[in-house]
Amino acid sequence: MKGVILAGGTGSRLLPLTNFLNKHLLPVGPYPMIYWPIIKLKDAGINEILIITNKNHLSSFIELLGLGEELDVNIQYKIQSNEGGGIADALKLAKSFINDEKFVVLLGDNIFEDSLAPFVQSFHKQKMGARVILKEVKDLTRYGVPFIDKANRKIKSIIEKPSNPPSPYCVTGIYMYDQKVFEYIDTIHPSNRNELEITDVNNLYITDDQLQYDILLGWWIDAGTHESLYQANQCVYKNTMREDSKWNDTSL
Ligand code: DAU
Repeated sequence: MKGVILAGGTGSRLLPLTNFLNKHLLPVGPYPMIYWPIIKLKDAGINEILIITNKNHLSSFIELLGLGEELDVNIQYKIQSNEGGGIADALKLAKSFINDEKFVVLLGDNIFEDSLAPFVQSFHKQKMGARVILKEVKDLTRYGVPFIDKANRKIKSIIEKPSNPPSPYCVTGIYMYDQKVFEYIDTIHPSNRNELEITDVNNLYITDDQLQYDILLGWWIDAGTHESLYQANQCVYKNTMREDSKWNDTSL
């Protein structure tokens, strides 16, 4: 399976830090943020990785990561020309990289504790469709929130940034898709905030009864604001104290 990391967007909620620096290059623990999704994919056995970012920041990513030699993965890059055009707008650029396989998408600002390996294994077994990973959170109005039929283990719909959240869970930026995703992206239109929304794509999977879900148990943070970036650093350093030998491992 291949992996796609989205590392574009405007980073407007992290100004002025993001005035000249891409959000995903800001420090989280001892590494730039972008290291964490790469480490999570690698840990789940995914070594072929596409990073999608903006034209202005591409050279910084290449300078930092090259083709992935140091992290022992193979990295390719694509440029999202419509900066801030939306997650689905960025994702459609992955089509030629993916070919005919199923694949994993990570939002580059999602920092989390759980291993992806069990979710990837479940998705391997899933014949077709998509899989989203949920997490119970407090500040639900920041996220996509699912309406869940728990008895049948089905998501009935997802609402992006709802004022009245229909469940205590958010849809995290960990997504798994089959090829159909590119067809769905071609049919959606920009939202009120003028973005091609991944939530609209996931709702199309729901309409076709092809969306499954898992739930994260460990901590999860969307590090896209000053406060949550600080929290991500705290969580990573807490983990560090628990397993402090990990940071001496140069093979990361
Ligand atoms: O973190 C989970 C949430 O991420 C989900 O619950 C929401 O459903 C989903 O829409 C998204 O919400 P955000 O408002 O937090 O998305 P944000 O604009 O912060 O972008 C998330 C990541 O995607 C970030 O790492 C940058 C990347 N991105 C974003 C946009 C808009 C791109 O690469 N290109 C883009 O055009």
